[in-house]
Amino acid sequence: MREENQSYILDFILLGITGQQQQEDVFFILFLFVYPITLIGNLLIILAIRFDVHLHNPMYFFLANLSFVDILFSSVTIPKMLTNHLLSSKVISFGGCITQMYFMIALGNTDSYILAVMAYDRAVAISRPLHYTTIMSPKSCILLIVGSWVIGNTNALPHALFTARLSFCGNQEVANFYCDITPLLKLSCSDIHFNVKMMYLGVTVFSVPLVCIVISYVRVFATVLRVPSTKGVLKAFSTCGSHLTVVSLYYGTVMGMYFRPLTSYSLKDAVITVMYIAVTPMLNPFIYSLRNRDMKAALGKLVSKRIPS
Ligand SMILES: *[C@@H]1O[C@H](CO)[C@@H](O)[C@H](O)[C@H]1NC(C)=O
Repeated sequence: MREENQSYILDFILLGITGQQQQEDVFFILFLFVYPITLIGNLLIILAIRFDVHLHNPMYFFLANLSFVDILFSSVTIPKMLTNHLLSSKVISFGGCITQMYFMIALGNTDSYILAVMAYDRAVAISRPLHYTTIMSPKSCILLIVGSWVIGNTNALPHALFTARLSFCGNQEVANFYCDITPLLKLSCSDIHFNVKMMYLGVTVFSVPLVCIVISYVRVFATVLRVPSTKGVLKAFSTCGSHLTVVSLYYGTVMGMYFRPLTSYSLKDAVITVMYIAVTPMLNPFIYSLRNRDMKAALGKLVSKRIPS
């Protein structure tokens, strides 16, 4: 019976961000700018770090890894949205839909864990400077990054598998511009209780790094405040403040999106997903490097090397 129902479903229809043609056009233009900025911004970070030996340390390796994940993350959804809009098509295949969902969750979680690794790295550097090189040895850096990837993919696999097994009974209209887990679950005519429980478990796994980030920044502040230097305190607050802004935007929107009853979802929530799908991957390279003199110097060198004046 289940297989029979499923065989009807070949494609899904992506309803878009608001479903209104004019607003979709606006978002199309917005994404047309946001996506290249995300790619170029993150790529420049990776190249600047690769080619500047001054930046060959854990903090920048983690930043390069974050940029790499952000490039992949935004490439899972935005190019499909752009090409569909250009072709005036709303179609995504069943396989494409499940694949998109898998990589969304996997890369979103990897991103979340790398953000925590970066905060932990700063906390160790500032509160235990003498032990920094032993704690952040090359081996533990690789372990932290591999760990982030493993957790991300492990968290995504059950959702993709259990969603792929659902029946859809001819309901094909996904209320978002990409295949997100909640609109897909709402479409299904199977019993989704288990899937919803898995989703809450998944968001919990996603949110664990937020606790590490908060603890790390509390440790940073505590250390900085112990050494009274107005300049140091201001610098720490402005740097950590901008990090905390993107971090809270990211976790706040994701948690607000998935930690709630499935019945409360509608197409208007798609606008909220734009925040973590498009905005945070674009902001990350700027937030983590603009206030940073070494990073700016490396970027300057990179650009002047390529474009001889
Ligand atoms: C990611 O981090 C690892 C370990 O610190 C490092 O060896 C690797 O070069 C980084 N990846 C990128 C894309 O910079």
